[in-house]
Amino acid sequence: MESDYKRILVTSALPYANGPLHLGHLAGAYLPADIYVRYQRLKKRDVVYICGSDEHGVPITIAAERKKVSPQSIVDEFHYRNKEAFAKFGIAFDYYGRTSAKIHHETSQEIFLRLHKKGIFKVKTEKQLFDKKANMFLADRYVKGTCPVCSNPEAYGDQCEKCGSTLSPSELINPKSAITGEPPEYRETKHWYLPLGDFQENVAKWIETRKHWKTNVLGQVKSWLSEGLADRAVTRDLSWGVPVPLEEAKGKVLYVWFDAPIGYISATKEWAVLQGRPDLWKLYWQDNHTKLVHFIGKDNIVFHCIMFPATLMELGDYVLPDNVPANEFLNLQGNKLSTSRNYAVWLDDYLQKFPVDPLRYYLTFNAPETKDADFTWQDFQQHNNSELADIMGNFINRTLTFAGKQFNGCIPERGVTDELDKQMLAILQDAPQKIGDLIEEYEFRRAIIALVDIGRAANKYFNDQEPWRSAKDNKSKCATTISICIHAVQTLALLMQPFMPESAARTWAMLGFTGNIQEIPWDTAGDCLLTPGAAFGPVSILFRKFEDTEIQPEIDRLRAISEAMFPAPATEKKEPETPKIKYEDFAKLDLRIARVLEAEKVEKADKLLKLLIQIGSEQRQIIAGVAKYYTPQEMIGKKIVVIANLEPAKIRGLESNGMLLAAEDEKGEFSVLMPEKDLDSGAKIR
Ligand code: 2FM
Ligand code: ZN
Repeated sequence: MESDYKRILVTSALPYANGPLHLGHLAGAYLPADIYVRYQRLKKRDVVYICGSDEHGVPITIAAERKKVSPQSIVDEFHYRNKEAFAKFGIAFDYYGRTSAKIHHETSQEIFLRLHKKGIFKVKTEKQLFDKKANMFLADRYVKGTCPVCSNPEAYGDQCEKCGSTLSPSELINPKSAITGEPPEYRETKHWYLPLGDFQENVAKWIETRKHWKTNVLGQVKSWLSEGLADRAVTRDLSWGVPVPLEEAKGKVLYVWFDAPIGYISATKEWAVLQGRPDLWKLYWQDNHTKLVHFIGKDNIVFHCIMFPATLMELGDYVLPDNVPANEFLNLQGNKLSTSRNYAVWLDDYLQKFPVDPLRYYLTFNAPETKDADFTWQDFQQHNNSELADIMGNFINRTLTFAGKQFNGCIPERGVTDELDKQMLAILQDAPQKIGDLIEEYEFRRAIIALVDIGRAANKYFNDQEPWRSAKDNKSKCATTISICIHAVQTLALLMQPFMPESAARTWAMLGFTGNIQEIPWDTAGDCLLTPGAAFGPVSILFRKFEDTEIQPEIDRLRAISEAMFPAPATEKKEPETPKIKYEDFAKLDLRIARVLEAEKVEKADKLLKLLIQIGSEQRQIIAGVAKYYTPQEMIGKKIVVIANLEPAKIRGLESNGMLLAAEDEKGEFSVLMPEKDLDSGAKIR
């Protein structure tokens, strides 16, 4: 830790309280943070670890409507369930708050008002989608329609889950209300926008000072900055959320991504109250000697690295994150997780069958630190069995069992040390610094590999010293070897703590220590803390092996779901199951060659191009979702194929009179269809 920091504030992304937690959650934002925090506590640093439930946002109200219950009852259920699941996996928050708490509403409103009084917000009256039947504006996920980028007909108003594009409701083609299924109309409404473009320079300057951030994080941030930051609405026409504290904004709430990160602050306030020092939160948020670290998944980068810091910068009296070590995604058996299709490993289910620490081990060993990672049950089993059972557990067990037999279950006296002994002792001595440095650098994967390497070295040392031989002819050498092996068990127990706290405590008890292992400072882990002659406790198996019979049902369950999700590939020469049509049906389509006269980007819609096209003697405007693949310049002058008799539609409030044809293959290669010869515009396709 850089020396001018006096305390550390660690946060993990607040999970939405609308569903249970799965492996992907744990691997992304919670387990790495927990390892980091547990390590800092052992370093005796002043560290506070904050998290809580994100209880606003449209998915929660939609879930409530579907189940015909109140949003509050949904968040109540999952707040407590998730809090408990985290506790069972040893995620040791100092405080787990929730954004429906009164203090959170007050804190968010106060921050909004401070920005409002400073005149930061732009207030805009704009046309937005409105459902007449439900009598409400359709924010975010309340609208569904066709994605302008990949044509997925099930895209949401804030995102297309098929191609991952971020969308706004007005970008959807043929939008429909998610509540009534009706096509919405446009109505005027007023909203408060954070003019991120105005903050771009300051944010970019600050990002320049973050050279120590992970490259995956910096890459994403720089790409947002190079595209130019746009205004972001921080209010919504919804009834569930933090009410906007302005008379003229009655009936509106704060956008969930405006209030959620403020949840870190409000939860710290609640923690401070519990400490009996209500002002203590200020030290963690408003004193420059605080190192603030946000642990998140990659989908949250823009909010934590741009939007929230920009807000904090404008407030002027808050610390900015020292680091945001975001993880990439964890896939499952080769496919993306899908919570709606139950293609996930739920934490509750896992715990019914397997112990906690092997999962903490494997998710750290196989963490998506720099790129997406894949969890497979086979790999989990293999690494548990070989590293935890065969290396770590085996070494601890053979050492203590041997000592039990040869030295009456007591720690033997250490005698003269030879070269091999000295080498082993040096490894133990260096270990806390080596593993600690990696944890400080957020290199948890390398840190846990280094830990297992010590177990590996210790096993080799045991083998090389052959204590079963010296037990017969050189008891003092045997005693030295076993004393050093028990010392290694002690070091392993102490250094295992951030990663596998339960196994660390069990090992500690096996060694006969009665005190709390967490009291022992990290830096002394390599020293010998053993008392010769002291008895150690009962020995039991630390890590059991997982059998094929336990693993196979898990693989089978996921395979059944994935086969339903991704039906057999086309290589099986199965014809697609589309119904046959008559020629008359085809003839209804008026497909024409058109020439692109003009092309320009649609403002604030990074997927759309507005094209002026010529079809014979007629000119028309179409809006096409091709901006990700074609620049306006590349389109101008091109001959394309359009459906000329498609009913006009409004996209982003702009009229689109026709649709161009394009294709995308399974590799994601995308092309607008263009005739090979220079046909006249207006030519009919038959
Ligand atoms: O992506 C999510 O799950 C969000 N609920 C994370 C919020 S993080 C923070 F800002 F609160
Ligand atoms: Zn899409």
